[in-house]
Amino acid sequence: MSPPPVVHAVNLVKIYQNGGVPVPAVRGVDLRVEAGQFVAITGPSGSGKSTLVHMLGGLDTRTSGEIWLDGKRADTLGESAWALLRRQKIGFVFQFFNLVANMTVADNVELPALLAGASAREARERREHLLGELGLTDRADASPAQLAGGEQQRVALARALANRPSLLLADEPTGNLDSRNTRDVLRLLGEVHRDGQTVILVTHDARVASLADRVVSLLDGEIVDDGFIGATRRRPRGTAGDVVELRG
Ligand SMILES: Nc1ncnc2c1ncn2[C@@H]1O[C@H](COP(=O)(O)OP(=O)(O)O)[C@@H](O)[C@H]1O
Ligand SMILES: [Mg+2]
Repeated sequence: MSPPPVVHAVNLVKIYQNGGVPVPAVRGVDLRVEAGQFVAITGPSGSGKSTLVHMLGGLDTRTSGEIWLDGKRADTLGESAWALLRRQKIGFVFQFFNLVANMTVADNVELPALLAGASAREARERREHLLGELGLTDRADASPAQLAGGEQQRVALARALANRPSLLLADEPTGNLDSRNTRDVLRLLGEVHRDGQTVILVTHDARVASLADRVVSLLDGEIVDDGFIGATRRRPRGTAGDVVELRG
């Protein structure tokens, strides 16, 4: 028997209420993501991308429909069960970073690994690796407020990857980055993907989407296109950065 999909959304709907006026943000999304897939979610501003990934990570409640993670029903879980699930297997990069203000960069990145049960040494080594990959080694002792927006964004990614989540959900993780830092992030995402982690990533950036196995396009809260990128277009191991440069 093949393993259940990592993510399975069934007729997922989110309707916000805005002063009594219903605002449909996600309108009946069906999405199945198998283990190890790298999925880019694209679409114009307001098409429901953030709402969708927030629901998949339990950060927002659905109006109707179902969410299954690794074959287990998740949309019916309460806050604390979701928190546990995120600690164990979901890394989340928010659009607005959500770093802990009164902790150093190093502590922000180590915290999820420590909460997930890593030893202090494992957490430190993982943090050193991630900050190194993202060009942030010399910012380890800074506090988030001392960082530029693009630096905060990279720290948020490092934090999301600290406990090697089996599922990475990232909302525009390169939105504030220049091309060099975008390349660092893409290299790291390529590494995560090669390690077999599942990645679902919202992006406006065609370079980022070109890394994915599959591109899902949203419009007005519905999936309007869902295409697998053929095997011939898959880059060989370890050259994500080169592809980015070629397509620059
Ligand atoms: N908290 C909220 N309250 C009311 N409406 C919201 C809220 N969050 C998002 N929306 C609305 O839902 C729709 C989808 O938003 P969003 O998921 O943020 O889109 P995207 O990430 O694709 O830009 C938009 O019309 C937006 O205005
Ligand atoms: Mg958004």
